[in-house]
Amino acid sequence: MHCNLLSHPLYTFLNLALIFSLFFVIIRVGDRMNKVVIVGCGNVGMSYAYALLNQKNSVNELVLIDLNKERTIGEAMDLNHCLAFGPNKMKIIAGEYADCKDAAIVCIAAGANQKPGETRMDLIHKNSSIFKEIVGQVMSSGFHGIFLVATNPLDVMTYLTWKYSGLDTNHIIGTGTSLDTARLRFLIGDRLKINPKNVHAYVIGEHGDSEFIPWSNVNIGLKNIQEFLDQENCSKIEEEVRNAAYEIINRKGATYYGIGMCLARITSAILNDENTIITVSSYDKENNLFISLPTIINKEGVISKLFVNLSKEEEEKLKASIAYVKEAIVSLENE
Ligand SMILES: NC(=O)c1ccc[n+]([C@@H]2O[C@H](COP(=O)([O-])OP(=O)(O)OC[C@H]3O[C@@H](n4cnc5c(N)ncnc54)[C@H](O)[C@@H]3O)[C@@H](O)[C@H]2O)c1
Repeated sequence: MHCNLLSHPLYTFLNLALIFSLFFVIIRVGDRMNKVVIVGCGNVGMSYAYALLNQKNSVNELVLIDLNKERTIGEAMDLNHCLAFGPNKMKIIAGEYADCKDAAIVCIAAGANQKPGETRMDLIHKNSSIFKEIVGQVMSSGFHGIFLVATNPLDVMTYLTWKYSGLDTNHIIGTGTSLDTARLRFLIGDRLKINPKNVHAYVIGEHGDSEFIPWSNVNIGLKNIQEFLDQENCSKIEEEVRNAAYEIINRKGATYYGIGMCLARITSAILNDENTIITVSSYDKENNLFISLPTIINKEGVISKLFVNLSKEEEEKLKASIAYVKEAIVSLENE
């Protein structure tokens, strides 16, 4: 009797098993890709973790690392207890540096924060020494993903992360002026009674006192801001943005919810391969440092910066901001 091999039940079974295994491998690879590690589980690190937990996203594993191991165990327990009511399925653990090996993103939020009256740049010595140790330990794990830096002084710490890691510049992202930009959009939206999502405005330069707003590029819908606000009001808003951290720190000791949301937003832009424009701190080849401009990011990290048409005065402000960051890096490297 002639036997058709293709219609044999064993052939069908083997085919199904192969398809199922391939499907399983794809899911597992996808799983591994969406692991996030947070180093530094204080105010900022845990606000980020909580924002990730509350927003629909594709993070499926979250690892917490801190000098204070007991705290990470407690934080992991607390976060795990949210899962029954959260939008995501996520594995959350207190981990070790070895866990960074297959992470898509390692966020560093460790280190000292500003005390009332301190500038971000005042933290440079305290935080640069701990970064050498942290980045070294992350890299020893075999990590080859994207670093996301939140610690201040932000642009200097982002630069040090690049130097200590030896990774490509596109894999190094600082939160930069993303938080300042969110503050700006809120303040303009609040004054004009416009949804901040429709306020097209960016803070650029250093994440610190030399940051500034290129007002010539600020639009509400398609109309320039000049049609809505005069110079005096724009200057007031710019001061409010620049002083926001000081105002919050004077009242509650630290700022963290805002930056937690920025970190979660940047994480989604990376993991969902969004090609989204955010004012993160990214590499500037001409000046060999990290600074914020509107930047396109996706799963490869930084794709490109969008060079903005600036007025003469705005160009000078950007140069001054870059020079300020450069000076801090040079003085640190000369010590
Ligand atoms: N990028 C931004 O826009 C932005 C906004 C707010 C705060 N920050 C900065 O974020 C940083 C963290 O602020 P915070 O309020 O969360 O501080 P925090 O004191 O609450 O937390 C810092 C954590 O880092 C941990 N840590 C210190 N050294 C470590 C090490 N070597 N290894 C592992 N963990 C270590 C501490 O144990 C602590 O849990 C500060 O530098 C702050 O200025 C940045």
